Amino acid sequence: MGALLTLREDLRDLKPYVAGKLIPGLVKLSSNENPRGPSPKALEALAQAASELHLYPDGAATELRKTLAELYKLKPGNFLVGNGSDEVFTLLAGAFIRPGDHGLTAQETFSEYTFAVRLFGGVMDKVPLSQGFYDLDAIAAAIEPKTRIIFLCNPNNPTGTAFNQRQLEEFLGRVPPTVLVVLDEAYGHYAQMPDFPQSFSLLERWPNLVVSRTFSKIYGLASLRLGFIAASEAVIRDVSVVKQPFNVGNMTQKAGIAALHDLKFVNESLALNREGLEFWNQKLATRGLSPYPTQANFFCLEVGRDAQAVAAAMIEGGVTIRPLTSFGLPNAIRITTGTPEQNQLCWKALCHALDTIPTVR
Ligand SMILES: Cc1ncc(COP(=O)(O)O)c(C=O)c1O
Repeated sequence: MGALLTLREDLRDLKPYVAGKLIPGLVKLSSNENPRGPSPKALEALAQAASELHLYPDGAATELRKTLAELYKLKPGNFLVGNGSDEVFTLLAGAFIRPGDHGLTAQETFSEYTFAVRLFGGVMDKVPLSQGFYDLDAIAAAIEPKTRIIFLCNPNNPTGTAFNQRQLEEFLGRVPPTVLVVLDEAYGHYAQMPDFPQSFSLLERWPNLVVSRTFSKIYGLASLRLGFIAASEAVIRDVSVVKQPFNVGNMTQKAGIAALHDLKFVNESLALNREGLEFWNQKLATRGLSPYPTQANFFCLEVGRDAQAVAAAMIEGGVTIRPLTSFGLPNAIRITTGTPEQNQLCWKALCHALDTIPTVR
C-alpha cells in the first residue's frame, strides 16, 4: 500500500476558518449576526415552503433574482445567488483565477477572499490598512500585470470603517478593465454616512465591478446561507458556469424573497443597531476608549491587552466577542451590537476584563 493522499502542497500553510465562538447559553456578539433574530416574514415563508422539500429547487433562482432586480433597479441577469456570500467569492475565484494569477486585498480584512484565491492556485497580495481604513491609493498602486481580482470590504470587517462614493470612483478609474473589482458590502445596509457608495448604480459604468451582499446580517438569516452578487450580465454568465446546479435550496430562496419585502424588520434592525452604537460610544468614552469609526453592526476596539485573554475573561462574564488575533490584530477585539440587555451585559464583562487583564507593553 502506498502512503495516504495528503493535502496539496500549495495549501498546507492555510488554516481552517476561525469562526466567532458559539457557547450555548451565552450571549453571542462574536459573529455580527442580527440580535433581533430572523425576519418573521422569512419564517412564515420557510414554513410554507417546507411541503416542497421533495422537489429540487429552481437552480436559476428565478423569483429571487427577479425580486433583487426590482429592488436594485437592474435586470435579473445582473444577479447570481449563492450558498452565503462565502460561496460566491469562491465561485468568482473559480471562474477567473488561474494558477499563478494574483488577487489583491487589504491585510486586515475578511479572510475568505484569500481562501477563495488560494483554492484555485492563486496568490493573494495584501496591502495594510491605514489607521483602520482601506488604503485605496496603495491598493491601486499595488496592481500588477498578474492581478486578476481585487477584493474590497466596505464597511470593512473587522474595523467597521468605510470609504465613500468619490473614493470608490477614483479607485475604479485606476483599475484596468481586465481586473475584476469585488466590492463586498455584507454590512452595507448599516452604513450611516451620507456618501456611502451607491454601488449598484455604478455597475453600468464599470463592467468589471461586482457588488456582493448577504442575507446573514440585516435580514437575520445567517444559518440559511444566502448571499448574492450583482454585476454585468457577462460576468454573471461567466460565474454561472462554475456554479453547482442547485446551490441554493428552495426554502432559502423563498425565505430570501420574503426577507427582502420585510421592510419593517429591516428598519427596526437598523434602529436597534443605531441605538446599540450610541450606547457603546457613550460607555466607551467614560473609560477614555474610542473604537474605530464604524459604519457596520459591530465595532473594533484596540484594548492594549492580549485579545484572546480579554475574550476568555468576557466568556466568564457570559458573552462571546471576537478577539482579532486571526485578523493580525492581537490586541484588538470586535463586538457586535446587541439588544440593550445584551449590550449592558457585554459592557460589564468588558469592564471586568479590562480591570483584570494586564496591558501589553
Ligand atoms: C465582510 C463579510 N463578507 C461576507 C461574509 C459572509 O457572509 P455569508 O454569511 O453570506 O457567507 C461575512 C460574514 O461574517 C463578512 O463579515
